[in-house]
Amino acid sequence: MRYRLTALDTEHIPQVAALERVCFSHPWSEGQLRAEMEGGGALFLVAQGEDGTVLGYAGARAVLDEGYVNNVAVAPAFRRQGVADALVAGLIGLGRGRLAFLTLEVRASNLPALRLYEKHGFRAAGRRKDYYDDPKEDAILMTLELDYESKAAQREGTDQPV
Ligand SMILES: CC(C)(COP(=O)(O)OP(=O)(O)OC[C@H]1O[C@@H](n2cnc3c(N)ncnc32)[C@H](O)[C@@H]1OP(=O)(O)O)[C@@H](O)C(=O)NCCC(=O)NCCS
Repeated sequence: MRYRLTALDTEHIPQVAALERVCFSHPWSEGQLRAEMEGGGALFLVAQGEDGTVLGYAGARAVLDEGYVNNVAVAPAFRRQGVADALVAGLIGLGRGRLAFLTLEVRASNLPALRLYEKHGFRAAGRRKDYYDDPKEDAILMTLELDYESKAAQREGTDQPV
């Protein structure tokens, strides 16, 4: 299967919103996606087939040097073919050099997603009781430390002229 990773563009939003509806019990609407995309620090990647079909997408938000992964979703017909692997690797690539870590929450029963994130180096860092509704469920908090020194740490490590 051939696809390319590209930055989310407004033209993708209707397809991404449709994907949200298929994948999540509380899907983001087109308006929410647009607002998130236009807010500062948005990191969004889309996997697009040769005919323009959106196969999957991943989104995160950078706040200072912290990265919060919001969603990773792949259309059911295109799963188990490495699309999420490519999206998560792409997000990590975007974060390297600018973020200290990426963090996310995932439903405790969502084994495909837990395995996916573990495969990319995320480690369980906590549990949020009854975090999700429909159905009510705990979230596992997962974090991936990125090899990054904050600008403040870099300045502290630099010899200052006397
Ligand atoms: C989780 C999801 C994004 C995976 O997408 P995908 O494109 O099928 O995943 P990939 O084919 O790239 O698989 C990558 C890795 O994820 C894990 N994985 C994916 N599907 C899995 C499954 N059904 N069972 C176990 N592990 C699975 C594996 O570690 C896999 O690596 P491997 O093939 O070397 O074993 C997809 O199932 C999905 O969209 N689910 C619904 C939305 C969702 O739950 N998103 C996560 C919210 S936090």
